[in-house]
Amino acid sequence: MTESTNTPRQENTTRPQMVPGVAQLALYKMGKSQLDDHASPIKLSSNESALGTSPAAIAAFTSVQDRLHRYPDGAQTELRAAIADTWELDPERILCGNGSEELIGFVIRCFMADGDELLLSENHFEICRNYALSVGGQVVTAPEKDFVTDVDALLERVGPHTRVVALANPNNPTGTYVNAQEIRRLHQALPADVVLLLDGAYAEYVTADDFEAGASLVDENDNVVMTRSFSKLYGLAGLRIGWAYGSQWLVDALQRIRVPFNANAAAMAAAAAAVRDSAWLTHAREHNARWQARIAGDLTSLGLHVVPSEANFYLLVFDDCPGKTAKEAAAALEANGIIPRPVGGAAGTDHDVLRITVGNDAENDAALNVLRNYLTA
Ligand SMILES: Cc1ncc(COP(=O)(O)O)c(C=O)c1O
Repeated sequence: MTESTNTPRQENTTRPQMVPGVAQLALYKMGKSQLDDHASPIKLSSNESALGTSPAAIAAFTSVQDRLHRYPDGAQTELRAAIADTWELDPERILCGNGSEELIGFVIRCFMADGDELLLSENHFEICRNYALSVGGQVVTAPEKDFVTDVDALLERVGPHTRVVALANPNNPTGTYVNAQEIRRLHQALPADVVLLLDGAYAEYVTADDFEAGASLVDENDNVVMTRSFSKLYGLAGLRIGWAYGSQWLVDALQRIRVPFNANAAAMAAAAAAVRDSAWLTHAREHNARWQARIAGDLTSLGLHVVPSEANFYLLVFDDCPGKTAKEAAAALEANGIIPRPVGGAAGTDHDVLRITVGNDAENDAALNVLRNYLTA
């Protein structure tokens, strides 16, 4: 028998001991989805699709019902082909998962262990941090400039223990993005053994000309991986489906730790139809851009700082709005049956901020009305 080098079992413990990385994690706080006094609240807290789901995706979802007794296609062939056709990518280097969250977890678990560092921008998606801590890793954050990821601040913090640099682009909860040139500059300065994880959960919404989600950088390098989601623009959050794109070497590494049927049949069928529905993409992107411009214009004219967003949500900053606070604005919205997402503190920011998802026309009008009344009262 080989001797374990782990800490021996403690005497007098009444429960199993969590590994230290897991013990330090707080339970994840989800966005609210209900309000006591409103039977059907307007939910603008989780950055879900404003327009629902494309009818083509719903039809594909329904068509799976007579095959539910079969395991899904573990090779994910149809969905990988649909994604590859749509975005002109190599299907062999796509891996689908139970939401992009799962794929982000694969990347962290493949490349980080005890004592390794994950480098993040000050504002970041909380799940990345939790995965890193759970494997015994450390999290290092870099300050931002005006709510925008600062490439130089990130580079200054790359050290001998850095294993993964994860960047949501556009970022959450800010909605800001880093342009393609800056992403390349970041990548070029990283050591070859550091993974650059480009989280493109909101990439489909971006209309800025100088944005790239990262596929070409992936094509040229073994240390870049891009993750994408069907939960946002495609309206499939409830099915849990996302995808990752990397070099063959990197995707093979992720394949080692996935379970054979990590993506379910209904989700893959719906997602394949959704990604082929190019009219939906255009319509949803236009709806979002039109409302972002209108919301920013209206609220800025009332004295609020609206962080320029390329995603399907906006971050309101109350710092320079005398007598007005994010907390009161959230209370006013909730009193009117609208659920925003308070993000102050959790995102590592000292600013007084509130995040709100872009909804459909009626939902956005309702949110703007409440905010206008609150700001002018
Ligand atoms: C920045 C970012 N990345 C990834 C995700 C995970 O998306 P999903 O697991 O639904 O694909 C989210 C979800 O809100 C997000 O905001």
